[in-house]
Amino acid sequence: MKEDFGEDFQWGIATAAYQIEGAVHEDGRTDCVWDVFARKKGKIRNGDHAQHACDFYHRYEQDLEMVRSLGFGQFRFSISWSRILPEGHGTVNQPGIDFYNRLIDKCLSLGIEPWITLYHWDLPQALEKTGGWKNRRIVEWFAEYAAICANAFGDRVRNWIVLNEPMAVAGLGYTTGEHAPGDKGIHHFLPVVHHLALCQAEGGRVLRQLVPNARIGTAISCSYVYPNSTSAADVRAARRADALLNRLFIEPALGLGYPKDAFPFLSNIKRFMREGDREKLKFDFDFWGLQNYFSMVVQHSYLAPVMWLKEVPATLRNVPVTGMGWEISPVGMYEILKQFQKYEGVREIIISENGAAFKDSVVDGEINDHERVTYFKRYLAAVLKAKQEGVKIGGYFAWTLLDNFEWAHGYSARFGLVFVDFNTQKRTVKESGKWFRNFLKDSKM
Ligand code: BGC
Repeated sequence: MKEDFGEDFQWGIATAAYQIEGAVHEDGRTDCVWDVFARKKGKIRNGDHAQHACDFYHRYEQDLEMVRSLGFGQFRFSISWSRILPEGHGTVNQPGIDFYNRLIDKCLSLGIEPWITLYHWDLPQALEKTGGWKNRRIVEWFAEYAAICANAFGDRVRNWIVLNEPMAVAGLGYTTGEHAPGDKGIHHFLPVVHHLALCQAEGGRVLRQLVPNARIGTAISCSYVYPNSTSAADVRAARRADALLNRLFIEPALGLGYPKDAFPFLSNIKRFMREGDREKLKFDFDFWGLQNYFSMVVQHSYLAPVMWLKEVPATLRNVPVTGMGWEISPVGMYEILKQFQKYEGVREIIISENGAAFKDSVVDGEINDHERVTYFKRYLAAVLKAKQEGVKIGGYFAWTLLDNFEWAHGYSARFGLVFVDFNTQKRTVKESGKWFRNFLKDSKM
């Protein structure tokens, strides 16, 4: 089956700095918003925190060897902004740069291609103090940070992802407050969206200028949205949800503007736009990273002012779900790929994350996570179907290497192909990891 994807198809595994590194106060790193958020009572399940996480900061060599032994040729990781710039901007922390240099060199020595994500949700707290993503100055700060990374790592790293799931930052971080910095309020949503969308394009421009031959993308979450009924109100609600979840960050970059047609509320974003911004929002990305986990059913709701919609949870719909109650929907993956293929400006799609959390248990030293194996098989079949029908998909990254700090869920949700015992940091490859090893066996690297 692997052969069906073609020789050039890139198989990778994705991670994020904050979820695995630990060592949060080592070698000059300062707090990011998640360190502060995790110290607040009741924000993270079981009071968990990421001070040690998977201790990847110290164990990256063995962990990368494991990536190699599982057969993946591509490794996606993110850079912790506050390791590089403890104040968010200004003075560079050389030990932070040194860590990522060691990590990149280790990848290369193993024949693994490194993929850098510049921003995976861990904003330096120093910047949050001055408004974080609400403050338009974030565009300058982000450009400075991007340039430092480009200059430090661009000689060896070709693949770059500017932002990871900006919608999660705007929606969960600054609107519902479920994620750091937990700054709740619908009035934050539009300015934060606009500043993220500006940074998305600006980061692309910085990389284009400083890294010759860079392959530049950015990663967005996406979910195929179904209306709960054929009623006009539900169909309109589904279009609004689609505008928010799938169109909000790609369309301005493609020069199409924000998707106000489906969601008039978005016209208020003009209050935060300055002259020339429509141009500044554009960037011609080499690829779009799509991250898909589940599809969604929504209905109209009078109880939700502004959005006027609510999700019909999968758990109430009698459909198969993962351990987190997310609908298992390979057909949703297929549909969303077809939907993105319709954009003329999309050159290539990389599935930059896909995976599932289930309740794993260790029996006689083994983790037989057959549900996860089935999940991957079914989602990969959907990806293949879309590819065979002409969707330009160049690669697939499984989420994720290690069980890790799953944001507000703490360590309660395990997504890894490798089980981590957080008391001892012992790693054990799960059945799903072994399945990938077999599947990728012939991969030429
Ligand atoms: C994020 C990851 C996260 C995963 C599973 C994605 O939204 O990029 O950081 O762990 O989903 O929730």
